[in-house]
Amino acid sequence: MSRKYFWLTTILLVLALTLVACGGTAPTTEAPAEEEAATVEEAPAEGEATEEEAAPAADGANQLEFFSWWTAGGEADGLNAMYEVFKKEYPDIEIVNATVSGGAGSNAKAVLATRMQSGDPPDSFQVHAGHELIDTWVVADKMEPVTFLFEENGWLDVYPQGVIDILSYNGEIWSVPVNIHRSNVMWYNPAVFEANGLTAPTTFEEFFAAADTLKAAGVTPLALGDNGIWASTHLMETVLLGALGADGYRGLWTGETDWNSPEVTNALDTFAKMLDYVNEDHAALSWDQAAQMVVDGDAAMTIMGDWADGYFFSLGLTPGEDYGFAPTPNTDGTFMMLSDTFSLPKGAPHRDNAIKWLTLAGSREGQDAFNPVKGSISPRSDSDRSLYNAYLQSAMDAFASNEITPSLAHGAAASEGWVTAFNDIMTLFVTNRDVAATQAAMAQACVDAGICGQ
Ligand code: GAL
Repeated sequence: MSRKYFWLTTILLVLALTLVACGGTAPTTEAPAEEEAATVEEAPAEGEATEEEAAPAADGANQLEFFSWWTAGGEADGLNAMYEVFKKEYPDIEIVNATVSGGAGSNAKAVLATRMQSGDPPDSFQVHAGHELIDTWVVADKMEPVTFLFEENGWLDVYPQGVIDILSYNGEIWSVPVNIHRSNVMWYNPAVFEANGLTAPTTFEEFFAAADTLKAAGVTPLALGDNGIWASTHLMETVLLGALGADGYRGLWTGETDWNSPEVTNALDTFAKMLDYVNEDHAALSWDQAAQMVVDGDAAMTIMGDWADGYFFSLGLTPGEDYGFAPTPNTDGTFMMLSDTFSLPKGAPHRDNAIKWLTLAGSREGQDAFNPVKGSISPRSDSDRSLYNAYLQSAMDAFASNEITPSLAHGAAASEGWVTAFNDIMTLFVTNRDVAATQAAMAQACVDAGICGQ
């Protein structure tokens, strides 16, 4: 993508999400004006598909192939809950559940890219709002716009403008948002905390003090499952947020914050120190296996997005009783957000069915079936709060009142190329813990992404 567009979307993202935070528009009962829907008002790109042009390659089958990486407890259950609603409405459509396991799409994205490049798209696929959607797929001319769905279903009135903005490009909306996830959550085992006389740490200092107590008691303080390196990137983004604050963190992705600053050094030092308190087998575990360590009392805490709430829900656990939750150290008042969206790729073989699927996915009924199980909140202003557990209700309140920052690990903050470079840097860092080399590499990655000057 061009540098100009990167800046534009990043600024929009920050502005829009700040507006959401300040204006309390998520959730809200205030209806945004229809014409506000797509704020990036530019002429449609040449060769852009219209509804009519994108004719499906009919294979005669009455199917819906949906592609995702949702295979773990909670995320798979959420998807199934949405499928159930769909099946009830369309019993004749056969659902083809195309999944490639691996949290955060660590394996799925490569498979999807191959399929898309070879002209074999699924009917719809899961994609993160923000840079991942726009840079990877929309700018590459692989998507159909779905503005018509927003118009036909009255969604312009129920989705927060900040969310619509990060799905918009060239005056169109390009995907249907099904949820809002929070990435900066620390989950803990209340019984283990109580047995050690601890309460949830709110600062890094308190975190390390608690970690020392736990280590001395023979409990792994922090469970990490980074067999997909994204989980370390995820932990790192929360540490960067805690060390730099919301503005400083946002500036990392716009070139306003210096990657060579002492604050970034401090964040890297903090992350390196955290590794002294994680399970030795972290590189062999997945995020949900790390969450399970907390459930079992083998570890006291894990830092993970709130799909962990969906995982705990799938085990029949109750928030506040069986597991505790708190913002990650130093990030109270900030909501690191990401959003899963469902797309309409060009050439979807069963386009009509994809449209039925997307219509359900964007509806209140679909979202309220999906999100309470998935461990996410609905972006819709009219979702039924009573269906959501205590953690998710707290997430709704935080999303409506906190500063909003975009997640790096989950596609909102930076282009996929930059995320991949960052993941590669983290692969080395978790092994060598070389702060100076890591900081230099991170600064270079910003230059390579075209955001920081030489
Ligand atoms: C995120 C995704 C979530 C959840 C998580 C773990 O990237 O947005 O919905 O699935 O990965 O797989």
